[in-house]
Amino acid sequence: MLNLKFPYLFYGGDYNPEQWDEIIWDQDIRLMKKAGVNLVSLGIFSWSHLQPNENTFTFKWLDTIMTKLNDAGIFINLATPTAAQPAWLSQKYKEILPVNEYGIRLSYGSRQSYCPNSPVYKEFSSQIVRKLADRYKEHPGLILWHVNNEYACHNSECYCDVCITQFRKWLIKRYHTVDALNLAWGASFWSQKYYKWEEIILPKATTTAKNPGQVLDYKRFMSESHLKNYIMERDIIKKYTPNIPVTTNFLPGFKNLNYFKWAHEIDFISYDSYPDPAPGFKPSDPAMLHDLYRGLKHGKFFFIMEQAPNQVQWRDVNVCKPPGMMRLLSYQAIAHGANAILFFQWRQSRFGAEKFHSAMIPHNGRTDNRISKEVGMLGKELKKLEVLLDTHCISDVAIIFDYENWWSVENHMNPSNRIKYPEQIGYWYEQFYNKNISIDFVPQGMNLSQYKIVLAPLMYMVHPDAEKPILEFVKKGGIFITTFFSGVVDGTDTLFPQGSPGPLQDVLGIEVEEFAVMGRQMKNSIKANNTKIIYDTSLWCDIIKLKTAVSLAQFEEDYFAGAPAVTVNGYGMGKAFYFASLPDYKYTKIFLDGLLKEKNIFPALNCPPGVEVNFRKNNNDIYYFIINHTNSENSIQLSCKFFDLLNGITISGDIKIKAQDVKIFKKL
Ligand code: GAL
Repeated sequence: MLNLKFPYLFYGGDYNPEQWDEIIWDQDIRLMKKAGVNLVSLGIFSWSHLQPNENTFTFKWLDTIMTKLNDAGIFINLATPTAAQPAWLSQKYKEILPVNEYGIRLSYGSRQSYCPNSPVYKEFSSQIVRKLADRYKEHPGLILWHVNNEYACHNSECYCDVCITQFRKWLIKRYHTVDALNLAWGASFWSQKYYKWEEIILPKATTTAKNPGQVLDYKRFMSESHLKNYIMERDIIKKYTPNIPVTTNFLPGFKNLNYFKWAHEIDFISYDSYPDPAPGFKPSDPAMLHDLYRGLKHGKFFFIMEQAPNQVQWRDVNVCKPPGMMRLLSYQAIAHGANAILFFQWRQSRFGAEKFHSAMIPHNGRTDNRISKEVGMLGKELKKLEVLLDTHCISDVAIIFDYENWWSVENHMNPSNRIKYPEQIGYWYEQFYNKNISIDFVPQGMNLSQYKIVLAPLMYMVHPDAEKPILEFVKKGGIFITTFFSGVVDGTDTLFPQGSPGPLQDVLGIEVEEFAVMGRQMKNSIKANNTKIIYDTSLWCDIIKLKTAVSLAQFEEDYFAGAPAVTVNGYGMGKAFYFASLPDYKYTKIFLDGLLKEKNIFPALNCPPGVEVNFRKNNNDIYYFIINHTNSENSIQLSCKFFDLLNGITISGDIKIKAQDVKIFKKL
C-alpha cells in the first residue's frame, strides 16, 4: 500500500553533488547532519551525468552518494532528471527542441528545452526513468520520487509540427466533428470557419487578436501534454516501487498548468515558495499560495519542496531575507499545512546561472555565517514538531479558484486589461487573512456544504458543473459572494445567451447591463444604505438591473449614479451578494465583519494586527501557531492553558511574543 505517513517533518533541500568533487560529499553529509537535514532531493538535473551517450549509463556516482546519505540516516527524494536532456540528445534529434510562436526552433544550452509532445523526448525520458527505478527500487534510503522539475516553467508552449498533429488529435477527441469545433470556437467570426481538421493550426503569432476559444483549448492541450509526461514517468516508477509516493514540484502562483487537474494524478502536493522579501512584501501573499496549494488536494498536507534560504538570483533586484524571515516564513507554511521545509539548494553553486542564489550553506562550506546559523537553528527546532504530522487545517470559508477562468479572464481583448485574476482573489483573501480567518481554496463544481461562506471573485467563466453546488449551498443557508465580470462566459469562452451573470442570475437576483470599466484616472465612489460615509471604488463598475435582489450600496458618480454597487439576494435559506465594483478595503472590512458575526466565525485567538494565528488539528489535539510578522513585541491574552512546543513549558494568561517570532502551542 502507498505509504503517505512520513516518519518526520522533513527538512533539507535540492542536493547537486555532481557539481562537486567527491571529496566534498563527506563534508556535505557531515554538515547536513549538523543542520538537522533528514531529506535531500537528488539528481534533479543529472541526466547528462547519468547517460553520457545513447548507449552508456553511469550510475556509479549516484550509487556512492546514495549509500553515503543512507548510511548517515538522510532520506532520499530521488528525482527523475528529465527537466534537462543532455546536449548529445538534442544535437542528434533536433526535433526534440521546442518551437516558439514565431516558428523559431529554440536551442539547447539551458534547461527544459524540449517539446512536451516530442516522441523522442518521451522515448529517452522513459528509458532513463526505467533505469533509475529499476536500479534503486530496493534502496533503503529511497523514500520519495520527485518527477522532473517545475513542469512547463520554461516550455509551457511549443508550436512544432508534432504539436500541431497532436493538437488536432486532441480536438477530434474533444469535439468529434469540425462543426462542433466551429461552434465552440465561434469560428463564424472573422471568416475562421474550418471544413477539415487539417486546416486547424496552433495559435501561432498572427496579424492581430487570436481566437479566444482556440487559445483556451491550446492552453488546455499544453497543460495536458505536460501532464501526460508526468503520468508516463509516474506509471513507470509505480511498476517498480508501488508503495513509494510520487510527486512533482509545482511552481508558485503558476498560470499555465491546470493544477487542480494535475492534483488527481499526484500522490501529494509539493510546491516551490519564492515570495519577494523586498519592501512591499505582504505575509498574506505566501499564505494565500499555501492555502491554494493545500486546496489542490482538498486540505491534505503539502511539501514546500523549495524555498530560498536568503536571496534568489532571478529577479531584477534580489533583496535579502532579513534575519528571522526565513524561519518565520517556514513556520507560516507549516501553519498552513506544510509537512516539509526544503530549500533550493543545499550548497551554493560555484558556477552556472544560479551561482548567486542563496543556499543552506555557501559554496565554501562555511557554517559560521548568518544564513547557515539560521538554517541550523530551524533544523533543530523542527525536531520538536513531529506531533504535527497527522494534523490538518480546517476552514469555514472557501474561495472558488479556476485555472481556465484565469486563462480566459485575462485575454487582452476583454473590456479591461487592468483586471488580474490573482489580484482580485488576493483582494478578498487578504481581508480574511487580516482577520485571522482561515480560508480553503476549492475548484468549480465541488460540493460546498462544509463551508459557511464561499467567495468566487471574478468568476468570469462558469463551467457546466459549477452552478449546481453553488445553488445548493445557498439554498441550504450558505453565504455566496461574487463580483463584477462574473457569470459572463461558458467553458468555451462564449457569452451566456441570457447575459451576465449567466447561470447565476437567479441566485444573485440581478442582470448586468453594461461593463463600465474604469481607467486609471477615473474615479467613482459608493454610499452604503443607512450611512453617510462614502467609499472610493475603482477598476470596474457593472451597471446592474435588480430582479429579486436589493441594493446595499449605490454608485455616487457618472451617468449611472444611484445604480446598485453591492446587492444581496435571499435564496432559499441563504444569501448571495454581488459586488459590481472594487470598493476601498474599508467598505469590505465592515461588510465582512457583519457577515462573520452573523455566521459565528471567529479567529482562533484574538491577536493584534500583524500577528497571524492559525491552527492545525486532529481528533485529539489542537495546535495554534502565532506568528508575529511585525517589528515589535506584542502581547496576547490566553484564556486557558497551553503547552509551548518550542520552549517545552506550560503557559497561560498574558504572554509576550517578540518581534518576528513564532509560538506554537498545544491546547491543554
Ligand atoms: C526553481 C527551480 C530550481 C531553481 C530555483 C531557483 O524554480 O525549480 O531548480 O532554479 O528555482 O530559485
